[in-house]
Amino acid sequence: MKIIVLGSAAGGGFPQWNCNCRNCSGLRSGAIRATARTQSSIAVSADGQDWVLINASPDILAQIRAMPALQPERARRDSGIAAVMLMDAQIDHVTGLLMLREGKPLPLYCTAPVWHELNNTLPLAPVLSHYCGVRWHELAVGSDAASIKRLPATQVPGIEGIRFTPLALSSKAPPYSPHRERPEIGDNIGLLIEDVASGKSVFYAPGLGAIDPPVEAALRHADCVLVDGTFWSADEMVTLGFSKKRAADMGHLPQSGEAGMIAVLDSIGERRKVLIHINNTNPILDEDSEQRVLLARHGIEVAFDGMEIDL
Ligand code: MLT
Ligand code: MN
Ligand code: ZN
Repeated sequence: MKIIVLGSAAGGGFPQWNCNCRNCSGLRSGAIRATARTQSSIAVSADGQDWVLINASPDILAQIRAMPALQPERARRDSGIAAVMLMDAQIDHVTGLLMLREGKPLPLYCTAPVWHELNNTLPLAPVLSHYCGVRWHELAVGSDAASIKRLPATQVPGIEGIRFTPLALSSKAPPYSPHRERPEIGDNIGLLIEDVASGKSVFYAPGLGAIDPPVEAALRHADCVLVDGTFWSADEMVTLGFSKKRAADMGHLPQSGEAGMIAVLDSIGERRKVLIHINNTNPILDEDSEQRVLLARHGIEVAFDGMEIDL
């Protein structure tokens, strides 16, 4: 199984269009050692030909251009993207669907609450019905610790040999959702992605607000974890004067702190550990920062666009 990180930044990307924080401005001027990143999305394939796109970021066209593997050219009109799977209904994870409108009807795998958002509060599905159209396949989620073993995994036609098991998470529905403050199971999911032949797996959760028992079980089960790297500190956006929202208000677990992501990743033992969905304000984007050095000391990698994970 091959996983390609198409985009590794949080909403806004890096640098963000209007931002002059130390990172964004430092990247533009060359004052810091850092790499630009598009908004978070990964692609998964068993054979390197047909891929499941996991989250469709507004940067999808640039991501496809940068990744020839997604464009196998088997017919006059063709794409390596066989299906799209969504982790939530946030702008940075769904609006790329609009850019795929010239293709065939899109197989779309998401939970019922996310499908509801896409038909109501952010109605991309009815809009796309005038173009390629979307074929919804429901991802039924488990929310208890036993569920990663019990839930029937989803198989995507055309992507033989990979099983996708969705897991309900504590994070946040988008700001435009009527249940932003009244979470429903399935607003946000993580995904255990398993290669049937090798038995190897990745747990992918770009938005993760809390480590509930089923999430902890998935983190301990997977050979590689690719998880929420949005913020270094709980009040990062507040301290910088960019927002009144703390990381928790946005459904993200920061890396630092006693129960932060570093402590969580320390507690799950040896395996590959990678942060993704990194906000442009996060000091770990500066490759010379003390925070980046600290991550390395804990065996934690920072995803970058084009990163490949083979399992
Ligand atoms: C989030 O994950 O909290 C979102 O990316 C925020 C946004 O889209 O601006
Ligand atoms: Mn996001
Ligand atoms: Zn910035």
